[in-house]
Amino acid sequence: MNIEPFRIKAVEPIRFTTRAEREAALERAGYNVFQLRADEVIIDLLTDSGTGAMSSAQWGALMQGDESYAGSRSFERFRDVVHDLTGYEHIIPTHQGRAAERILFHSILQPGDLVLNNIHFDTTRANVEVEGAEARDLVIPEGRLPAFVHPFKGNMHLEGLESVLRSEGDRVRVVMVTVTNNSGGGQPVSLENLRAVREIAHRYGKQFFLDACRFAENAWFIRQREEGQQNRTPKQIAQEMFSLADGCIMSAKKDGLANIGGFLAMNDNALAQKCRNLLILTEGFPTYGGLAGYDLEAIARGLEEVVEESYLRYRIAQIQYLADKLVLDGIPIVQPPGGHAVYIDAAQMLPHIPPLEYPGIALVNALYLEAGIRSSEIGSVMFGATPDGTERAAGMELVRLAIPRRLYTQSHLDYVAYAVAAVASLGHGLHGYRIVSAPAMLRHFTARFEPLMSLAVM
Ligand code: F0G
Repeated sequence: MNIEPFRIKAVEPIRFTTRAEREAALERAGYNVFQLRADEVIIDLLTDSGTGAMSSAQWGALMQGDESYAGSRSFERFRDVVHDLTGYEHIIPTHQGRAAERILFHSILQPGDLVLNNIHFDTTRANVEVEGAEARDLVIPEGRLPAFVHPFKGNMHLEGLESVLRSEGDRVRVVMVTVTNNSGGGQPVSLENLRAVREIAHRYGKQFFLDACRFAENAWFIRQREEGQQNRTPKQIAQEMFSLADGCIMSAKKDGLANIGGFLAMNDNALAQKCRNLLILTEGFPTYGGLAGYDLEAIARGLEEVVEESYLRYRIAQIQYLADKLVLDGIPIVQPPGGHAVYIDAAQMLPHIPPLEYPGIALVNALYLEAGIRSSEIGSVMFGATPDGTERAAGMELVRLAIPRRLYTQSHLDYVAYAVAAVASLGHGLHGYRIVSAPAMLRHFTARFEPLMSLAVM
């Protein structure tokens, strides 16, 4: 049964806006939906990060929070749950995933170093580059072909990995794999691939870390698609995934089912000590790491709920439901659909808009104007700026419809599918954008745009 495995105990009203209100809001926002006020949005699919609904058990756990500065009971509960899941010796709480990234990379990287990953997410890449190091993506070639169906499109390209380690191995500080591969469409990585990455990384004396934000969704795909995994629980599969790596960074805002939080975990004693010292400098004491005791309780409970079969079956079915509806309407999407989002191939849908006129932004903005739906571009705005200040087209021009966990119902998704079809029918009526102003790094959050033709003609 794929019905929602929960009842709704609390509701939050949605404010409906008119087309005229949305036009004014988008213009004020510099045609960047990150700059909108949330109540100008009807259905918010900007991200699945920190936006999900907590369970009644999580809300109940909040009252158990021990807010002691040092040695809190909530930390012990959090540490025990994370240790049980990951097996790692050192569990270091952080306020979210990027804090774990910054602490890890600042502790291990020197200028000129190299970090390898299937595809670095935006903040991960930025946290590597800010140390003067290079972030290089080595996903399998199929992982860059939106329409190509492959069960584990997030897999690392093993020959590529080995070849970089052979030729530039002295620069490589850490090998990472992101599960699921968010920037490549929320695509899973197989256990077989993780085993091989571990073997290769260790043969060259390199540490292997997971970027584990969506580990549970990845575990579910392994159970569905990898031979011999069908009778294992998602938790057992997740435990094996973690056991193959030497540590992980984690944003608990995704598969922690919490609104805030994250952690860094590893087995290396000396590295953990270095990371904890940095944590104290900028995040907080190692038993709270920038979080409240009640956040640690919510995450501990969330990590238990996220590996429940009924939850994961529903979660993945919900994404598939939206994907199926879009496909029926002829919308080109990344196939197969990922674990937390449906990614529309904007380059394919709007072939008349060249990459550096940002087809993804054209689609994101049209969806907002049409139906008040907020989505995000994962394309040349997010990844097109290079550290030397030039711009080049990203490999793919995607628009992500990220589905927050346990938040929206099936009829909300029906509305989304209807709106995407309506925008698709505008076709050549949609036009590109140019950037008016943007910061050098992570420009997609604050860039301001200008339409290349009056929106009135749409
Ligand atoms: N790694 C991956 C793969 C992510 O998707 C994110 C966040 C992070 C690291 C950083 O975690 O937000 O807790 O600091 N992704 C969000 C998204 C923001 O919308 O996909 P964070």
